[in-house]
Amino acid sequence: MADDSSRAGKRYTDPDIIAYVDRVHAAHDSGLAGAFSSPERDGLPAIQLGVSEGKLLEILIKLCGAKKVVEVGTLAGYSAIRIARALPADGKLWTVESDPRHAKVAEQNIAAAGFGDRVEVVVGTGVEALPKIAAHAPFDAVFIDADKESYPIYGEFAAAHVRRGGLIIGDNAYLFGNLCDDTERGRAMRAFHERAAESFDTVCVPTPDGMVVGIRN
Ligand code: DHB
Ligand code: MG
Repeated sequence: MADDSSRAGKRYTDPDIIAYVDRVHAAHDSGLAGAFSSPERDGLPAIQLGVSEGKLLEILIKLCGAKKVVEVGTLAGYSAIRIARALPADGKLWTVESDPRHAKVAEQNIAAAGFGDRVEVVVGTGVEALPKIAAHAPFDAVFIDADKESYPIYGEFAAAHVRRGGLIIGDNAYLFGNLCDDTERGRAMRAFHERAAESFDTVCVPTPDGMVVGIRN
């Protein structure tokens, strides 16, 4: 159900509602809790996914029966753990992180959560690392949550290397409210939307900052 104002973007959520639904549907075990609180504890930017966004990512990866996944933008490993939870024991996630200090923190959090065996943190920018990871294609899903200027390149990677029926998922698709601006970043994020829509059956889920989800045609 929606009405004119909620369809136009007005939110019914507030901190109590968010806390309630996060607790009922997306509760953290110790591994998730450790990674979620890590940015604040370890001096990294606290720009990880929200709890319910993380659970949505986990459910989408599980739904498509993914075994091989690529993530661009690891930060402290919260979303990587969400993805890893959805993989079978012989599944694999390659997660790309440009900041070596973030990568080290993420490796520790991922190991503490018990997923060190199925997650490889690749240090480098997406532009540097993805061509090497491409040797393992085709992938079942690509999750993009890194530097916004390069989203068109990451979208191109996903279009080239995700199998039919596999997923593209992109965070911050509203670009912090600046998606329609006539700026380099605005143009880059719009190019990502349009490239994704060309090769995937897509929707932009109205999460707080928008999340593109698409199935490869
Ligand atoms: C920023 C990046 C993100 O991916 C996000 O979800 C929120 C903020 C940032 O760079 O500020
Ligand atoms: Mg993000």
